[in-house]
Amino acid sequence: MITEVVKLDPVNPDIRKIQRAGEIIKKGGLVAFPTETVYGLGGDALNPDSSAKIYAAKGRPSDNPLIVHIGCLEDLNKIVKKVPGKAQKLAEAFWPGPLTMVLEKSDIVPITTTGGLSTVAVRMPDHPAALELIRASGGYIAAPSANVSGKPSPTLAKYVAEDLDGKIEMILDGGPVGIGLESTIVDLSENDPVILRPGFITCEMLEEIAGPVETDRTILSADAGGVPRAPGMKYRHYAPQGDLTIVEGPGGEVTAFINEQTKRLEKAGEKVGIIGTDGSIHKYPAGIVKSAGSREREESIAKELYRILREFDDEQVTVIFSEAFEDKGIGQAIMNRLLKAAGHKIIKL
Ligand code: TXA
Ligand code: MG
Repeated sequence: MITEVVKLDPVNPDIRKIQRAGEIIKKGGLVAFPTETVYGLGGDALNPDSSAKIYAAKGRPSDNPLIVHIGCLEDLNKIVKKVPGKAQKLAEAFWPGPLTMVLEKSDIVPITTTGGLSTVAVRMPDHPAALELIRASGGYIAAPSANVSGKPSPTLAKYVAEDLDGKIEMILDGGPVGIGLESTIVDLSENDPVILRPGFITCEMLEEIAGPVETDRTILSADAGGVPRAPGMKYRHYAPQGDLTIVEGPGGEVTAFINEQTKRLEKAGEKVGIIGTDGSIHKYPAGIVKSAGSREREESIAKELYRILREFDDEQVTVIFSEAFEDKGIGQAIMNRLLKAAGHKIIKL
């Protein structure tokens, strides 16, 4: 299959191009498209053949359910059994935006889309091209992140092409995404909301609207026991080819430790990558050093993290050290993804 790459203005997308993409999805084909979080790999959420194609293109286990993307709040009613009061409030507060809600699914949603579950994850992305595409495709797009299973989610169209060229009909290239980490997932299918995956919308932001919110305890700790409630969180995701270790502690000690290790490992023939920040990169004389952004603006780190992990793969780095980030606000999502990428390997100084 030849994958067509279509450039789009992310703010004023050309409707004709999007309509053509919508036709592909309606006919059961696959189109990758930008959202405000990461690029998604879209197919018709109500067509079981489309979800089968998505799993095949990604090389993803078919028990790992897909998120259904909608373009307006009214469309929610058709795919869920009921909209609990808290879900309604959260949708009004955060949609369109980086929040995914898990609700009881209605019969119209094929079991293949939900990986065999009786619940469905739904979100309304905050991106003009994505919203237009959803409308042009019939209203319901199933879309996981547009990466091959086990790679970081794509934050640029070129990473989608690297992973999926020849496997899907079209890539809509809307330039770099805004946030860079996947949406917050909240389960509202039982009583109190439970965060299954941290993201840009934090626990505090949710609690302001919906009262007490719990966090699935498997999210931040490797040894919490139990099976994560978002099936996807049980797989080792976002894994770079290099052996990644997070180093946490006072700034000076962290740089000293990483420098010492880098010197030793380079002597032994390893290629070392270092993830620092704008304020620290000049303190690393050796290794391939990349800044994830500024500690004062952790959003910038969220945006660059996956690009850096992919670049280290391209550069065939064999060992990676990353500084740790503050575990609050968007920092919680950053640390959650980093810990998963590191297989929970963290050194506390
Ligand atoms: O920001 C995002 O959410 C991006 C963009 C493209 O919208 N999508 C995304 O999809 O990250 P994906 O498939 O890479 O991650 C979806 C996660 C998986 O961990 C999956 O297990 C979980 O959502 N999930 C989906 N349906 C679920 C359900 N019914 N119950 C619990 N977890 C669910
Ligand atoms: Mg994903």
